[in-house]
Amino acid sequence: MEMDQLVALCRRRGFLFQSSEIYGGLSGFWDYGPLGVELKRNVREAWWHDMVTSHNELVPPPRAPGAYEMVGLDCSIIMHPQVWKCSGHYDLFCDLKVDCRESKGRYRYDQLVGVWASHHRYPNGRVFCAVEEGPDAEQESQKRAAWFFQKKMKLKGLGTIHGNLEKLTSVHDLSMVLAPHARELGSLTEPREFNLMFETYTGAVRNEESKAFLRPETAQGIFVNFKNVVDSTRVKIPFGIAQIGKSFRNEITPRNFTFRSREFEQMEIEFFCHPGNSPAWYEYWRDRRYRWYVELGLSGERLRLRDHDPEELSHYSGGTADVEYAFPFLAEGEFGELEGVAHRGDFDLRSHMEGKLVREGDDFALEKDAQGNPCHRGSGKDLTYLNQETKERYTPHVIEPSAGADRATLAFLCEAYREDEQPDEKGKLQKRVFLRLHPRLAPVKAAVFPLVKKDGMPEVAREIYGQLKRHFNTFYDEKGAVGRRYRRQDEAGTPYCITVDGQTLQDGTVTIRDRDTLAQWRVKKEECVEEIRGRLRA
Ligand code: GAP
Repeated sequence: MEMDQLVALCRRRGFLFQSSEIYGGLSGFWDYGPLGVELKRNVREAWWHDMVTSHNELVPPPRAPGAYEMVGLDCSIIMHPQVWKCSGHYDLFCDLKVDCRESKGRYRYDQLVGVWASHHRYPNGRVFCAVEEGPDAEQESQKRAAWFFQKKMKLKGLGTIHGNLEKLTSVHDLSMVLAPHARELGSLTEPREFNLMFETYTGAVRNEESKAFLRPETAQGIFVNFKNVVDSTRVKIPFGIAQIGKSFRNEITPRNFTFRSREFEQMEIEFFCHPGNSPAWYEYWRDRRYRWYVELGLSGERLRLRDHDPEELSHYSGGTADVEYAFPFLAEGEFGELEGVAHRGDFDLRSHMEGKLVREGDDFALEKDAQGNPCHRGSGKDLTYLNQETKERYTPHVIEPSAGADRATLAFLCEAYREDEQPDEKGKLQKRVFLRLHPRLAPVKAAVFPLVKKDGMPEVAREIYGQLKRHFNTFYDEKGAVGRRYRRQDEAGTPYCITVDGQTLQDGTVTIRDRDTLAQWRVKKEECVEEIRGRLRA
């Protein structure tokens, strides 16, 4: 499947629109249309149901080190600025970016690549032609793209390409670099750090004291409420706190549809456990979260669980694995992150007790300024945990499965997109586009049609629709040829279509058609709700 086909379908059928489209759109922001909002809600609800509400704390789940509890939380988006200072986001949540003085473009330093091309005018006879790393291009075509692109920009005397595409790094002399949209060499600034947090102000006065941030992750809201949850409920370690909510990152280069957006939704769990068995819990969550995607229809070879190499690990992490999906906009063999599962040790709770921490040998220590004062002070509150039975007091370790609701939705859409050929009413083969979404995720669960708009069929169909509508998101359609109505529902991913026809008027049965197999069978019209319910559950 080409990504363009999916993007076109999403727009055409109301899954996704560019934000503020009538004003030309706003880069990195997306709106979910009538079908998209249902799909994304179903993704979130499947996650919440499977991780929180249906979890039985009395029985250890398969492959878990033991039984555990799960509760939920819904925190504010804007929190005390000290939260972000202690978590490290204020100082460290940065990307290196370069600006182009000529085109005014801004690029992520780690996403600029290029090729050397000969040029007679310069001392060493060559210049470096940079382009933004193309997500959908292979190395060879990127190299050519760089070359043709620069040629189009008419840098006089640009000759042939030498070597392979390479990343722009500190070894490249920036005065020899031709930026992606520039005509002159040397227009890129030195790389500078750019904090990804959106800033805002609370209250009427706009100054440093009133400055606040839109949260770049939901996780910190959970850490700062750890004590509230322990004190207000009867949860005992091990337990998890789950949260779904919006996060905001001022990404320098939002791209690939909703994959990297500036406003997106996260589904995060902070799982608190005893340090002694945290490795076993890490293994459990890593595998549990991978299986969740498989259960909802992401196929084996496009989905993988990848353990991070030791040098890739964050400064606090005792182990991290990513659940990744081979999105169609990526080059062959490349995968994009759907979710990270991290063993974070006691880093977060300690940070919110003590203040911003830095690594010191195998442990962490409070980061101090030149005068020996803490760079960022913690809350000073006791976030340790007392085991009432053993009287052991300790700072819990945390396992964090952190998923993106928009990325998961995008992956489910990519996986679901199918084309085949099916005969139309006249028996002629026609291309059919359909979304093979898992029935739990499908925006509309069933559609009801009268075969024709006469002979009492619409009346019966409307009655069935009324019954179904009380239980599931159902769609009613009586306009146009029935074949076209089926195809519209196939494109929306509706798993079942129910048709009232001539036989219904005689024996009270209707046909049900399966989106994927196109099999049709008859059931009594009074049994439609049970039939659909049973199939959605299967
Ligand atoms: N609390 C840990 C954390 O936030 P992360 O890897 O930065 O970790 C977790 O983000 C997940 O959030 C990612 O795996 C991804 O699914 C989603 N995510 C992160 N940045 C995103 C963006 N700019 N657009 C869409 N989803 C994003």
